[in-house]
Amino acid sequence: MRILSPEPGETDLAERYAYPADGTWLRANMVASLDGAAQRDERSGGLGNEADRHLFLLLRGLADAVLVGAGTVRAEGYGPVRPSEGWDGVREGRTPVPPLAIASRTLDLDFDAPVFTEAQVPTIVLTTATADPVRLKTARERADVIVAGHDSLDFPAAVRELAARGHRRLLCEGGPALLAQIVAAGLLDELCLTLSPLLLAGHPAGILNGPPLPVPPEMALAHALQDDDFLFLRYTRSR
Ligand SMILES: NC(=O)c1ccc[n+]([C@@H]2O[C@H](COP(=O)([O-])OP(=O)(O)OC[C@H]3O[C@@H](n4cnc5c(N)ncnc54)[C@H](OP(=O)(O)O)[C@@H]3O)[C@@H](O)[C@H]2O)c1
Repeated sequence: MRILSPEPGETDLAERYAYPADGTWLRANMVASLDGAAQRDERSGGLGNEADRHLFLLLRGLADAVLVGAGTVRAEGYGPVRPSEGWDGVREGRTPVPPLAIASRTLDLDFDAPVFTEAQVPTIVLTTATADPVRLKTARERADVIVAGHDSLDFPAAVRELAARGHRRLLCEGGPALLAQIVAAGLLDELCLTLSPLLLAGHPAGILNGPPLPVPPEMALAHALQDDDFLFLRYTRSR
């Protein structure tokens, strides 16, 4: 990948995407087509290229926990996070992989699947007080469960709980329903957006799928990288 902004040239991705030294920081990593679609054939994989895959894995390596919606876990058949090439040094002093933190109200998740049974670090389930008690019991047997909120997740409380477990460098991998709520709750510090050179049309969701935001947050461009016809944009919250 080549850097276009702030100054053109080669770049060290791990340095460029380093989290701030202190405090909780919530980064989202998403891919969209040129016409804004966040899905192709109901998945996101068909939108990216090899460089996007590389960045996806590197961002996991840099994170303390990976937040994802149950819709994405089901659609993409998520497995547990596994150590990856290019992680040399980035996880020093931390667990070998970041745990997944799956948001689910219904707990309609396969607790016998590898995402729970083969996780190197127990998968976290973020759920609500009104979750089905039988499923909640199973979840507690297979995962580290955080209950935050009554009918709907209380996202600030969930993030505080994750930080209390030492997970302050957070990566959200979507999907659009989850990300829209994280943004609405004022929790998004950074958006890494891969722009894929495709035009899809149809009616797929964009990277945020939720009601309009009364006060749209403004983001500032931190950098733009290029690989072939793909752009890798990093925006941070304007303070
Ligand atoms: N372009 C990209 O970068 C990208 C990234 C990720 C995913 N995707 C695509 O997006 C699609 C899936 O996204 P999605 O928007 O449908 O689903 P999602 O955001 O991944 O997950 C939605 C689910 O999260 C749980 N959830 C959301 N808000 C909640 C709340 N307030 N309280 C409790 N639980 C809550 C619910 O799970 P339960 O139903 O279990 O209660 C809900 O059904 C897939 O096609 C995937 O390929 C694209």
